[in-house]
Amino acid sequence: MALVRRSVLFLTLLVHIARGQVSYSIPEEMEKGSIVGNIAQDLGLDLQRLKSGKVRIYSRDSTEYIELNRNTGSLLSREKMDRESLCAKTTPCALHLQMIMENPMEFYTITIEITDINDNAPSFQRKEFRFEISESAAAGARFLLEGAVDADVGVNDLQSYSLKPTDNFVLELHSQSDGDKSVEMVLQRSLDREKKVVVTLLLTAFDGGDPQLSGTVQIDVTVLDANDNAPVFTQKVYKAILTENAAKGFKLTTVSATDADEGSNGHVTYYVASKDDIVRNMFIIDQHSGEVTLNGFVDFEKASHYQIDIQAKDQGGLSDSCKLIIDVLDINDNKPVISLLSMSNSVSEDSTPGTVVAMMKVDDTDSGVNGQIHCTINDNIPFALISSSSNFISLRIEQQLDRERDAEYNISVTCSDQGVPALSSSASLSLQISDVNDNAPVFEKSYYEACVVENNTPGLFIFTVKASDADWNQNARVSYILEDSTVNGVSVSSYVSVHPDSGLITAVRSFDYEQLKDFHFRVKAQDGGSLPLSSNATVKITIQDQNDNAPHVLYPVLTGASVVAEIVPRAADVGYLVTKVVAVDVDSGQNAWLSYKLQKATGRALFEVGLQNGEIRTVRQVTDKDAVKQKLTVVVEDKGQPSRSAVVSINVAVADSFPEVLSEFTDFTHEKQYNDSLTFYLILALTVVSLLFIVSIILIISVKIYRWRQNKLLYKSGANLPVIPYYPPVYADGTLQHVYNYELCGTTDSRMSDMKFVRPYSQNTLVSQSPINKNQSSKYER
Ligand SMILES: *[C@@H]1O[C@H](CO)[C@@H](O)[C@H](O)[C@H]1NC(C)=O
Ligand SMILES: *[C@@H]1O[C@H](CO)[C@@H](O)[C@H](O)[C@H]1NC(C)=O
Repeated sequence: MALVRRSVLFLTLLVHIARGQVSYSIPEEMEKGSIVGNIAQDLGLDLQRLKSGKVRIYSRDSTEYIELNRNTGSLLSREKMDRESLCAKTTPCALHLQMIMENPMEFYTITIEITDINDNAPSFQRKEFRFEISESAAAGARFLLEGAVDADVGVNDLQSYSLKPTDNFVLELHSQSDGDKSVEMVLQRSLDREKKVVVTLLLTAFDGGDPQLSGTVQIDVTVLDANDNAPVFTQKVYKAILTENAAKGFKLTTVSATDADEGSNGHVTYYVASKDDIVRNMFIIDQHSGEVTLNGFVDFEKASHYQIDIQAKDQGGLSDSCKLIIDVLDINDNKPVISLLSMSNSVSEDSTPGTVVAMMKVDDTDSGVNGQIHCTINDNIPFALISSSSNFISLRIEQQLDRERDAEYNISVTCSDQGVPALSSSASLSLQISDVNDNAPVFEKSYYEACVVENNTPGLFIFTVKASDADWNQNARVSYILEDSTVNGVSVSSYVSVHPDSGLITAVRSFDYEQLKDFHFRVKAQDGGSLPLSSNATVKITIQDQNDNAPHVLYPVLTGASVVAEIVPRAADVGYLVTKVVAVDVDSGQNAWLSYKLQKATGRALFEVGLQNGEIRTVRQVTDKDAVKQKLTVVVEDKGQPSRSAVVSINVAVADSFPEVLSEFTDFTHEKQYNDSLTFYLILALTVVSLLFIVSIILIISVKIYRWRQNKLLYKSGANLPVIPYYPPVYADGTLQHVYNYELCGTTDSRMSDMKFVRPYSQNTLVSQSPINKNQSSKYER
């Protein structure tokens, strides 16, 4: 207000006084009652004149802004005057007054100019401006703004604009024909919705007053989206791990791309862009979420990793791509596979250790420990596995083979990998061991004994030697050979023969115990190998005695007609030794055990023969009744079965003198001849009868035993080798039939009954392996 007053004072000095005319200049907005000027003074009028002249102020406008003080002659403002409401933009702005006086009438024109003060700031009619501008709008695009207005005039009027911030837009002012200025906002640098969606600007209008006043308005620019951003993957390369045999639908990973744009321009969809059909079929990607899932079956052994090209696209067609690298992890899903490359079906038993018999290849398609293979074979076999190089294994002999111990091996090769759990597979190899002639035939015994009853038929089977050979086939085919030696200066082959195939020993001749009691020979067994092996056994044949010799009387000697008579004195005592019959028997044992009997005596027995010793003694005193001439027949008998005997006649003369004896014996020869023939017939008849009896007994017993044996065979049939009953040797086509004949020397029973003499034999008797057959023994013991 003080400022205004000072300017008032200053302005009032600028009063122009012309004739009848006064001008004042005052600023607007002066306080009510402010003095505009002293009119009386300025016009040189007496104050009295003002009163007398009834001075009055007249204004055309009804509004009275100015009044006149008649006492002082001052012009006063009646109210505040606002230049803008009085004159608006018109300049200069003046009030025109008339002052009129009477007595005399005077007329004055008063002009009061109201000068502008800067009491109005520029202002915008709108509170704010709104624009929507695409971010794709090019630089240079113009946007017309509604300008501001300032009620003041002149220098106080609107002078300039400013726009802040100036990042994207600048202002351009254009003078128009009506003097106004149009304001334009020009895009200088492109907008980016992705940086700022709404750009706020402030437009300020300034006037030129002092102090300067301004008005502002806000401009909101909404940036419209354009598809100016491609999708961008969060990673250029994604990685995922997949175990093989993972189930279909397994979620691998999720790829993600962002698009800075909005709306459809920012809507991203995903695609598998790989050209490889396998990959395209194996993996699928969710178009919207970017989740990659397994759509097939991965096999580490076919592909251990995959690379998928993935593309992300927005609706505007912009795209980005990334790679998904998938590593497949191996799992132990493959068994080792054993393939036999080469294999010997059979190997000789003399193969040296180290010989390779089979080659195998083992594969496991898994990797790492899942593909590391370890192979074993079954225990306790003389073979070993050698892995020569990776995956190749060979089976070789580790210890000496022996076909006779194991002729065949079933070798089971088991290979397992090191995975958890381990997988394994196995192969079976069958290996035959071929024979080598490394075993000689072996006799069942190294020493055989057998006995044969003498007087056997030539061709009699004695017994069988047997040797076995552990080798096989030809190497085990044993043939028997009689080794040449001599018995009593004669080749043994004239006594026995050995059948080369069966080992059957046959008597070639009839043996005579009295000539040969036993003999030895050797039999060799030889196999059929190309380098034959052999062994031998000793055989002892003992010939058993048969009672085939009758006792032979050595004394008294029978010398044709000349008969010796023994003389017994009449006075002989009881027990007088008359003579002694001496007989021998070339047989042995019981067959040679002789006993003596008195067969026939005349009258009351005067003599007796010692059963054992053959001594003839008197048993009583000689009487007169006893004939001079006595004839004693002594039967010497052995104890063979049947027994054989010899008869000897002894003439005994009971006399005291030799002439007596002579006369008595003159016709002795004739009578003796008669007696001899009589005795002969008697003995013949007796022998025939007893032989017939024995033969019939033997027949009956044989038939009985034969039936019993038949029954027993039937009962045993099937379990044992058929026992072929004895038949006489048969020769057919020049070959000897294989007839098994078991010869035996004695039986338990015969041992009992013939205790005395058989015992020494039976102790040395060969007892063949078959049970003793009493039937056969009885056949030979005739
Ligand atoms: C080997 O296997 C075969 C066939 O399975 C069998 O007949 C034979 O007895 C086996 N040999 C051995 C020594 O186990
Ligand atoms: C018979 O065998 C024995 C050993 O058993 C041997 O000492 C002998 O030399 C062999 N004799 C012949 C002639 O082969």
